[in-house]
Amino acid sequence: MYKRKIKERIYWLGAVDWDRRLFDSLIPLPDGTTYNAYLIQGSGKTALLDTVDPPLADELMAQLASVDKIDYLISHHAEQDHSGTIPLVLERFPEAKVVVSPRAKGMLMDLLRIPESTFITVEDGETLSLGDKTLKFIHTPWVHWPETMVTYLEEDHILFSCDFYGSHIATSDLFVTDQGRVFEAAKRYFAEIMMPFRGIITKNIEKLKAYNIQMIAPSHGQIYDQPAWIMNAYEDWVMGAPHNLVVLPFVSMHGSTRMMVDRLASNLVDKGVRVELFNLAVTDIGKLAMALVDAATIVVGVPTVLAGPHPLAAYATLLANALRPKAKYLSIIGSYGWGGKTVETLAGMIPNLKVEVLETVLCKGIPSEADYDALDKLAGVIAEKHKENDFR
Ligand code: FEO
Repeated sequence: MYKRKIKERIYWLGAVDWDRRLFDSLIPLPDGTTYNAYLIQGSGKTALLDTVDPPLADELMAQLASVDKIDYLISHHAEQDHSGTIPLVLERFPEAKVVVSPRAKGMLMDLLRIPESTFITVEDGETLSLGDKTLKFIHTPWVHWPETMVTYLEEDHILFSCDFYGSHIATSDLFVTDQGRVFEAAKRYFAEIMMPFRGIITKNIEKLKAYNIQMIAPSHGQIYDQPAWIMNAYEDWVMGAPHNLVVLPFVSMHGSTRMMVDRLASNLVDKGVRVELFNLAVTDIGKLAMALVDAATIVVGVPTVLAGPHPLAAYATLLANALRPKAKYLSIIGSYGWGGKTVETLAGMIPNLKVEVLETVLCKGIPSEADYDALDKLAGVIAEKHKENDFR
């Protein structure tokens, strides 16, 4: 892609990664992604905001071929999908200074071996003049790493938000054109990247309310020229109450656990509770993470294998613990053949979750009538809890 004009002397640069299907060797990217960099040419100085993932460095360097000078290279976030091409940019523009938060400086020295003399560090709220355009740096830790900051371009009211408000979609659209599609991708992105840091993100959201933000230009996905909806969505994901939703990640080896999950799910729906089932043998982990954003209750369906939980259920439990969703209740159901420590093992894997653990239901072999009765009772308890809390 060639560089693209956003506003007078403000350009999108970067790369669309149509092919990528996995991030951090962990996160599925069903729709690819983009690495957005931005060029701002003030009346006196020129700044480049972020770079691209190194495998696509040639695209950025080609876009910079016609640029005479870069005075400042703003690095919002040290992760390599944005910072990895900084060394190449510095080779081409050796006079450029890398502008970072104090914490990012050390991280970039560690990750990319950039010499210390190259950096200018900026404090929270500090400004940098490009002449007729002014960059204001706002420290926003943990969106996505602790060093992360964003830039507010004062005269044009644009927030360059890096990972914050980003979405993984490869498209030729510069601006958001399909709000539904971007909502889905941004929610997936939030679930996988941001959800563990909800507490501190609340503070970042509050901090940004002081600014008249008319456009958000993230480092992944399309630019929001009407940013209110994504800011409102973040408020709900971060601070809103859980929804009247039970998420059931499960795995079944010979069908018994599946029978239990289906029985519980049917009962919950009958009682007015929404459910989402994820068969862990085939599920997209990103879809599960998205559902966890809203879930009030998580019920793990797990067979016992080799005296412990099925490894797929253990993986999903570990993931839920790491993502720290706002769910309030959790239960474990499943089948076993002759014994084991499935419940104890899984219960020990969720220290980060602030949940009340409800009655578990384990059955030997296929579920009996007594097991079904226990599942019906569990559905009633969950429905009652959701009602008490007014989860909607
Ligand atoms: Fe897109 Fe945390 O890097």
